[in-house]
Amino acid sequence: MFNLILFGPPGSGKGTQSEKLIAKYHLKHLSTGDLLRSEISRKTPLGLEAKKFMDQGFLVPDEVVIGMINDALDAHPDVAGFLFDGFPRTAIQAQELDDLLADKNTCIDVMLALEVSEEELIKRLVKRGQISGRSDDSNEMIIRARLIEYHKKTASVADHYQKENKVVIVRGEGTIEEIFNKLTDEIDRLMKQDNCL
Ligand code: AP5
Ligand code: MG
Repeated sequence: MFNLILFGPPGSGKGTQSEKLIAKYHLKHLSTGDLLRSEISRKTPLGLEAKKFMDQGFLVPDEVVIGMINDALDAHPDVAGFLFDGFPRTAIQAQELDDLLADKNTCIDVMLALEVSEEELIKRLVKRGQISGRSDDSNEMIIRARLIEYHKKTASVADHYQKENKVVIVRGEGTIEEIFNKLTDEIDRLMKQDNCL
């Protein structure tokens, strides 16, 4: 298996690049944001609970997203690997993910971290907010709340993987194709070695 985390702040291009990466490498895309939005659109109890946090730009409680990831891992036993997008987002989620993967005799191979300036992130999300219909893009205050939440709880998740030398920083500004090429260079290099020893 080859398991990668595509990491970065809101608007850094995780979703955009994930779509291209899963097409190239046949990985299973697990985006907790997409899973939560699907729960919301189906009006499930989990979705209705999660919506209260998401609409304000706050993280959903750990146990909710960890449960969703656990179910998703079990539901896809025969994939070439997983691409985690928007997960893990807290130290607790990172530890849980390591444990869940260890139970399956695998691990995270790499965390590819997209770096984008705050100014560019806000510009992208405000622009998308005009068309996306995503409630958390609907005004700049909520966008800024998401960025604050990222700095408070999520940015340090990279330290967890840095301890194992598994973080590769990739500049996430430029054309989508340029960024994709930088990501695939790293993945192609790492796929040749066993990173889960
Ligand atoms: P989530 O859905 O994960 O959203 P996010 O991390 O806030 O980020 P986005 O999806 O908005 O951005 P992205 O990095 O995917 O960028 P994208 O490719 O879309 O989470 C939403 C909420 O769910 C959270 O706030 C939280 O409440 C909850 N949640 C989710 N996971 C959770 C977890 N693990 N724990 C707790 N709560 C959780 O690109 C953004 C825009 O930029 C697009 O319009 C795109 O077209 C454009 N763009 C992309 N690349 C470029 C480029 N190179 N140049 C110019 N524009 C570009
Ligand atoms: Mg996304």
